[in-house]
Amino acid sequence: MKVPEDVRNMKGKERIAMLTCYDSSSAALMDGMVDLILVGDSLGMVMLGYENTSGVTMDDMLRAIGAVSRGARSTLIVGDMPLGTYSTEKDALRNAGKFLDAGAHGVKIERKPGIAAFLARQGIGVMGHIGLTPQTISDFRVQGKNKEDAERLMEEARQMDEAGCFSLVLECIPLELARKITSLVSIPTIGIGAGPHCDGQVLVMHDMLGLYQKFQPKFVKRYAELGEEMKKAFARYRDEVKSGKFPEDGHSFH
Ligand code: KIV
Repeated sequence: MKVPEDVRNMKGKERIAMLTCYDSSSAALMDGMVDLILVGDSLGMVMLGYENTSGVTMDDMLRAIGAVSRGARSTLIVGDMPLGTYSTEKDALRNAGKFLDAGAHGVKIERKPGIAAFLARQGIGVMGHIGLTPQTISDFRVQGKNKEDAERLMEEARQMDEAGCFSLVLECIPLELARKITSLVSIPTIGIGAGPHCDGQVLVMHDMLGLYQKFQPKFVKRYAELGEEMKKAFARYRDEVKSGKFPEDGHSFH
């Protein structure tokens, strides 16, 4: 599946599984295992060691999208447009075009229904993102908890749907609100910290594999403890080098 419209058509038929990915080897392992790969700007934190996503550049994203598209040949790839790269229609179109040239099949933007509508009219598949939108919200709390905020989010969701987005990420909102939004909009909702009633789910690969250990949000389920496995492997390697056990004859040339 390589067309964003196929994702739109999954609503009500099949739940959507999306994961983030940023490199070619992981993408090759992930290819065909999920419906969508998101090259997220979370790359700034899990790959580049920044505190948040605001320092991520177009070059960072284009390199990662290229790497992922060389690894995952059969999975739909969406690239997350970094802060400041879609402030105007002109910028949005130029930068989205670079994403598609690098190997993405669609782009994700946070809020901005006007820009989403403009890109969609140019034939670009746009995934919307509302709720906790890390590029513009600095207080990392559950969003939409009071009536006013919940109504604002429902309105934003409606606008992103009307703008022609093919799907909508809902980040960190109460599950009752996610359920309401999911039945309000015609496009699939993909939740992260938004409960079980969304049409799909997304997790950051480094979180679900236990590779990112700085903190673990409540909504993350760890499907593996690769961070611990890596530490064990590094320690074994170090010990074997120091004791002379590695390399053995089988690792050597004669
Ligand atoms: O950058 C990212 O990983 C994201 C997901 C959390 C949806 O935007």
